[in-house]
Parts: sequence; C-alpha cells; structure tokens
Amino acid sequence: MRRSSILIISFFLFLACNHNTYKQGKVLYESNCAQCHMPDGSGVGDLYPALSQLGPDYNYSLISCYIINGKKSENSILEMVAIKGLSDIEINNIINYVRSEMNDLEGEVSIADTRKQIPECVQ
Ligand code: HEC
Repeated sequence: MRRSSILIISFFLFLACNHNTYKQGKVLYESNCAQCHMPDGSGVGDLYPALSQLGPDYNYSLISCYIINGKKSENSILEMVAIKGLSDIEINNIINYVRSEMNDLEGEVSIADTRKQIPECVQ
C-alpha cells in the first residue's frame, strides 16, 4: 500500500516536472515568438509561417539555427531576425514546446542534440 502510494506520487511529480519544462518553453515562446507566429502558432498567412503545422517529419533541431541566425528563404516575404540572449537550455525548451504542445508529438529533442546542433549553425 505504502509502496504504491510512493509510486503514484512519483508519477505525478514526474508529470509535473515535464510539464514545467514545457511551461518555460511556453513563457519564452510567448515573449520571443508569439508576436509573429501567434500565441497558438497558427502564423499569419504568407507573412509568418505557422508553427503548429510542422508535423512529424520536420527537423526540429534546425529551429536552434533559425533562432540564432534568423531565417530568410527566397520565396518568403519577410525575414525572421535572429533572437539574441537565449541560452541553449531555453532554446531547447522552446523547441520542445513547439514540438509537443503545438504539434502534438511524442518524444523530445534532447539538450544533447541541441548542444550538438548549435555549433553547426554557424553560417
Ligand atoms: C519578428 C518576427 C518573428 C519572430 C519574433 C520570430 N519569427 Fe520565426 N519566422 C519569421 C518569419 C518571417 C519566418 C519565415 C522566414 C523564411 O522562411 O524566410 C520565420 C520562420 C520560422 C520557422 C521556419 C518555419 C518553417 O515553415 O520552416 C520557424 C521554425 C520559426 N520561425 C520559429 C520561431 C521561433 C521558435 C521563434 C521564437 C524564438 C520565432 N520564430 C520568432 C518571423 C519571426
């Protein structure tokens, strides 16, 4: 009985911790990304791409590079400017917020993946 209570409590703590990670991602998303991509990630027509429709095959690791360098593709009307001052952990939490909460995907991009990706973003 006691043992199962501990298991149940641990399970809820685990859920709470996970949720907190995405909570930081959410707060950072709201202050750094939402003004263009919208709070729900739906974007604005041809101006700001939707982040809620990226889907399972998207390379979420590359979001680190868009945050660090900005992004300008040939056929886009506007350019995404680089966003300064976010740590690797903060970037990782934003990516996982976009991945899990907006695109409803299981699993996550690990901090190790993000730390490996960032040095490769140099243009
Ligand atoms: C000032 C407006 C602006 C802000 C702020 C902004 N973006 Fe962007 N973002 C854009 C624009 C414009 C594009 C399209 C750029 C292009 O493809 O040339 C873009 C593209 C992207 C893409 C590529 C989408 C695709 O379909 O491949 C991702 C991912 C992205 N942004 C994530 C973010 C995240 C995460 C943040 C916050 C950390 C952020 N953006 C903040 C304007 C913005």
